[in-house]
Amino acid sequence: MADDATVPDLSVEFAGIKLSNPLLLASGIADETGASMARAVKEGAGGVVTKSLSIQPRQGHPNPCIVEVEGGLINAMGLPNPGIEGFREEIEHYKKKTRGRAPIIASVFGSSIEEYVEASTLAEGLGVDGLELNGSCPNAKGLGLQFGQDPVVIIELVREVKARTTLPVLFKLTPNTHDIVTLARAVQEGGADGIVAINTLQAMKIDIMTARPVLTNTTGGLSGPAIRPVGVRCVFEMARAPDIRIPIMGVGGISTWEDVIEYMMAGATAVQVGTSISWGNLNVFGEMKKGLRAFLMGTGRRSIKDITGLAAGVGH
Ligand code: DHB
Repeated sequence: MADDATVPDLSVEFAGIKLSNPLLLASGIADETGASMARAVKEGAGGVVTKSLSIQPRQGHPNPCIVEVEGGLINAMGLPNPGIEGFREEIEHYKKKTRGRAPIIASVFGSSIEEYVEASTLAEGLGVDGLELNGSCPNAKGLGLQFGQDPVVIIELVREVKARTTLPVLFKLTPNTHDIVTLARAVQEGGADGIVAINTLQAMKIDIMTARPVLTNTTGGLSGPAIRPVGVRCVFEMARAPDIRIPIMGVGGISTWEDVIEYMMAGATAVQVGTSISWGNLNVFGEMKKGLRAFLMGTGRRSIKDITGLAAGVGH
């Protein structure tokens, strides 16, 4: 191995959260238990995001709630989770296993601003390093998506949460909008420390033999490689808006180191990896790190930080 001076630096800081590399495990994938989240770190993730947690436990939707389509998955799990308190042991196990090497961000949601605030303070009590407000679940009635599509509600939601926590607060934005930049401005105006983009795209699949929707929820959220160009465009649009100064975490269809570079060039400071892991190997993190280092070395760069926003000011 080359000596330290020539090994490119993959570390980044996102909204005050220090990461040894810019790759995080995305919410909802392989994050059911402390052990599975710790495994992602062992394989090379710089941090993890928990599954979305609510104050009370939730069962979620009956099967079928996930279907594979070309280029991705459509899911409508209905935000099943054991409740914030029910997840305490998993977080403790994670922290014991990873010993501060990789921050853990709690994804939280509620059915009102008050519930988001209470969920956030309860999650802070679990000893996490940051909060990701899931303001964009497309599947659960009265939850998430309505909050995430209205800039006025976003401002108030973020402001209320920020007033009650000392943790960095990130807001996960939906692409199911005609203007993601306006939503991003609302996130910043509310006082959030960072933006996460994108959540899943509303989609559906019909079984042509029965003429019925496959998912019990009828529609669901599309994730996977098919949505990457949408995510890259969203990150690019937000990054090149001169008044948006908070950092952006890119997510949506990332499965190779080239995808990571693409999101970072569009303007992301860090990224999350989800659906590509649900297809099998957690060692994508290790492979991505190797690819990122080789790319930096091959292009004469010392730090991954130099990639962020390279293309963001360069539109035609
Ligand atoms: C679900 C939640 C999401 O935030 C999403 O993007 C897709 C599905 C769900 O649990 O149904």
